[in-house]
Amino acid sequence: MARYAHIVGWGMAVPQRVVTNHELAQFVETSDEWIVTRTGIRERRVASPQESTATLSIAAAEEALAVAGIPPRDVDLILVATVTPEYLFPSTACLVQDALGATKAGAFDLLAGCSGFIYGLHLAAAAIRAGTHQVALVIGAETLSRIVNWQDRNTCVLFGDGAGAVVLQGSDTPGGVLASMIRADGSGGELLILPAGGSRLPISEAAVRDGCHFIRMNGREVFRFATRVMEKATREVIAQAGLRLEDVDLIIPHQANIRIIEAAAKALGLPMDRFFVNIDRYGNTSAASIPIALCEAVQQRRLNPGDRAVMVAFGAGLTWAAAVVEWGAPRARPRPLWLERLARITLYLPAQLHSRLMRLWRRLDAWFSRILRQEGE
Ligand code: UT7
Repeated sequence: MARYAHIVGWGMAVPQRVVTNHELAQFVETSDEWIVTRTGIRERRVASPQESTATLSIAAAEEALAVAGIPPRDVDLILVATVTPEYLFPSTACLVQDALGATKAGAFDLLAGCSGFIYGLHLAAAAIRAGTHQVALVIGAETLSRIVNWQDRNTCVLFGDGAGAVVLQGSDTPGGVLASMIRADGSGGELLILPAGGSRLPISEAAVRDGCHFIRMNGREVFRFATRVMEKATREVIAQAGLRLEDVDLIIPHQANIRIIEAAAKALGLPMDRFFVNIDRYGNTSAASIPIALCEAVQQRRLNPGDRAVMVAFGAGLTWAAAVVEWGAPRARPRPLWLERLARITLYLPAQLHSRLMRLWRRLDAWFSRILRQEGE
């Protein structure tokens, strides 16, 4: 029997701190007027020292699991799409797995720039359709504020922090992820790059002095590439789903620049009200941009059960990706906030205890084996 991958849960988390264009204009040569007219951005969220890609991922994932009404022990795959992982390794996905207590899950990070969330959705849906996995958590999360040069007006006005997550579940009922595609063109890699911190240019005093630990971007070229692929990918994925443009209720595009979204709308011959836009409040949150927009589209009832939505993104790599989704209803009934908090504490406290016990056990185990070795010598 055919398997289908349905989105049954969704959640998002953004830092509390809001940084407006006016605030930016106090320390870098820019203006609210320039940023709004050239990008559509009015403000963005910036992580506090206590917040990180993992903490935002975990908060978004907990919310998505609550909406799905699925306990973490039933999750068997966790993908975190990010260009700002907690560490190079271990993966942020493993930190999420540990915090949730998803003891049956495989977990890994995925790096595909701003297209990362759709890449993750594509892979998780394929795994569910193939029958190798039943419940997958796909997360897009970033703390771009940590790799942005706050003196560089070409980039610092664009980016923001946040996370969004969905729970995908296998079902025999048709629907869910109807079609998806992922593409890449590595010849454009240097157009959007973080030069230092990898094996090519490890972090060093010289690398930091040259600002190689910050995002570098050729904005104009990325813009030209984006306007080309947004239309192409949208048409391609809709055809793959056997649909026509008229069959699509909402397009959720990567929120990089309102002018890119407007160009895509024009090329597709669609009015702007068919596109979901929240770039004004979050800026470009890279891999988190689409899942955050998806959550807000649901909250604002722009996406309702039975609707068909196209998600489409482009980003560093260069990469681009698109997916068509038939929207379902949440499984779990919304609970009062206090009950939700209590439920989360009881659900995730054992996971924290389990994690601490495992660490303690590992230390004791190492200690015992050392003693036994010494006695044997
Ligand atoms: O998720 C993928 C990540 N990246 C993107 O999607 C970015 C795609 N690119 C873009 O969104 C646009 O190219 C930008 C928003 C980055 C730039 O907009 P633009 O209309 O392409 O501007 P520009 O780079 O052609 O620069 C025009 C002028 C320049 O001044 P001159 O050389 O004409 O005197 C810039 O120095 O605007 C200047 N400028 C600024 N002025 C005030 C650039 N950034 C700023 C700024 N405030 N923040």
